Amino acid sequence: MSDDIYEEIFERNRRWVKEQKADDPDFFEKLATEQHPRFLFVGCSDSRVPANTIMGVEPGEVFVHRNVANVIVNTDSNALSTIHYAVDHLKVDHVVVCGHYGCGGVKAAMQARDLGILNGWLRNIRDVYRLHREELDAIDDPIEQQRRLVELNVEEQCINIIKTAVVQRNYLERGAPRVHGWVYSLDSGLLKDLEIPFGDLLEKIREIYRLTPKPKRELDLDDEP
Ligand code: CO
Repeated sequence: MSDDIYEEIFERNRRWVKEQKADDPDFFEKLATEQHPRFLFVGCSDSRVPANTIMGVEPGEVFVHRNVANVIVNTDSNALSTIHYAVDHLKVDHVVVCGHYGCGGVKAAMQARDLGILNGWLRNIRDVYRLHREELDAIDDPIEQQRRLVELNVEEQCINIIKTAVVQRNYLERGAPRVHGWVYSLDSGLLKDLEIPFGDLLEKIREIYRLTPKPKRELDLDDEP
């Protein structure tokens, strides 16, 4: 890629502003005052997986957090702050974890290699492998094995999001957000909904990770002989 691309970006930006205004003269005025995204998208930093583009939505419609291999770690204040703001303040209805087949982070986590500072981050994915070792070891084709780990990683990161107090509390109070797992195919451009059983997962997770006291009525029902 030539160095001219740097200067060209500003040219492209001005062209984009012109096009947006031609479509809707108030586009920027409206966006400048507030945002009401209905989605929080947690995805991979991979340049080929841009949230707005693959979802076909405009600025203002999706709140985004991206990192290497779409991992949610419970000591990562960056990710947790993003989730908190999206769920508690913006009141998003849907939280999506979107992985992608051919993810370099997942691939790296399946190799016996020292990757320096990435080791700690990718260990989260090695942990997912350990949790599902039996299923993954039974897959002979390395590409299929990698694809399955991408899906299982999405599912585990959904679970990590459901474990947060902010998601549990909001769901009990307002019936949202629901947490979804998606996988994006680089070669077809299509999104697949993994249809993770959100309700079942939430119930199971709350047996151990419950972070809000049981409501009085629920306690009474449970205490009945
Ligand atoms: Co990736």
